[in-house]
Amino acid sequence: MTIELVPLRLPSSANASKFLGFGREVKGVNPGSFTYEEFQEIEEAVYKYDVLLFRDITLSPEQQYALVKAFDPESESYSHGNSQSEANKKSILKSHLTSIPRQPQVQLIGQGEVHYHEGLADVKLQHPSHKSFHKTHVSDEDEAKGITRFYRWHQDAALYDLAPPKVTSLYGISVPQGPYQTCRYDDGTGDELSVPLGATSFVSGKTMFDILPPELKSLAVRSKVKYAPYCFVWMAHARAHSTGLGMETEDLEVPLNELPSWEESKIQILPVLWKNPITGGLHLQISACGAAELLVDSLPAGATREGALYPDGAHITNLKDTRELLYKMQRPGIAPNLVYPHDWQEKDLILFHNRGITHSAAGAFQKDQVRKFHQCNLAASDFPLGPNEDDLKTWA
Ligand SMILES: [Fe+2]
Repeated sequence: MTIELVPLRLPSSANASKFLGFGREVKGVNPGSFTYEEFQEIEEAVYKYDVLLFRDITLSPEQQYALVKAFDPESESYSHGNSQSEANKKSILKSHLTSIPRQPQVQLIGQGEVHYHEGLADVKLQHPSHKSFHKTHVSDEDEAKGITRFYRWHQDAALYDLAPPKVTSLYGISVPQGPYQTCRYDDGTGDELSVPLGATSFVSGKTMFDILPPELKSLAVRSKVKYAPYCFVWMAHARAHSTGLGMETEDLEVPLNELPSWEESKIQILPVLWKNPITGGLHLQISACGAAELLVDSLPAGATREGALYPDGAHITNLKDTRELLYKMQRPGIAPNLVYPHDWQEKDLILFHNRGITHSAAGAFQKDQVRKFHQCNLAASDFPLGPNEDDLKTWA
């Protein structure tokens, strides 16, 4: 071992026993210029611990791209493809992403007016706000007191045509400081979580699966999600749940025949559980906002039918039913004590296992605060693997 791995400092809200295998600060290596041996260790660590933090890093867009590409040398395009495509211009993501001209796989994200940055003359960045996305909103009065919400829990992925990236890197260049804010779930549970201003929040997909009761584990291991084509256009007029975990069903989605022209063969049907390539663990990975249908396999021979959901399998096409089942599988995993909200410092680099965690932005900045981050991920050269036969025998 040439690199040093130190457990991340957890907030007092976290249940430390659920984070033993999650999150490490990496010391003793420069992520902008690494040897083959060092990369092998970084690669193993990201799949083992899901979130790696490097502190006090200087990293050019070219170096950030090279780091991400090392995980998947055949990958090339940004996870959402060309920002100038018709679909991306109509997508809910369009106001949050600006490509660095000379390294378009790296996006400038953040908040406020930025001038003369890496070849970009004038850019107005917009931090995602739940007010433009959720069905209900925190009142202006509460927002002034620092109440906020998780914006949208997701993996970084187009969920149509392009495969979900293996890793994402987030590099904090300008990080405005301010008082902690309170993320309110507003789902009747009374759950809330104190988060640093502009925190990126992470939950482990492995923990999300591990804590489920047996009947939901059995459903998860047998299920696949069918995502809507161009789901970020499809959901453009729909409104999200107050937890940021999926959409409300109000029939506001763009009809399939009014989306940019799409092909059936590029629609993605992805397993609910993604198999970790290093540990073999199962991570519950759903980007619920884009989910349209659920396909459930029947129980394997020999499995007990008692208490089983859909023992003979099912193809659930009703949007409300699909969303309710996904919510049951995911909501336990975003409990306040299972969330790691990263407290960003300038020159922090986070490299996360995009196929092993779910994450969300949160918070609201003052008008004069400027935040600059570089984000990079690449549409993968393969698709995530689901559970194998042994997993089915164990969990179905
Ligand atoms: Fe993201």
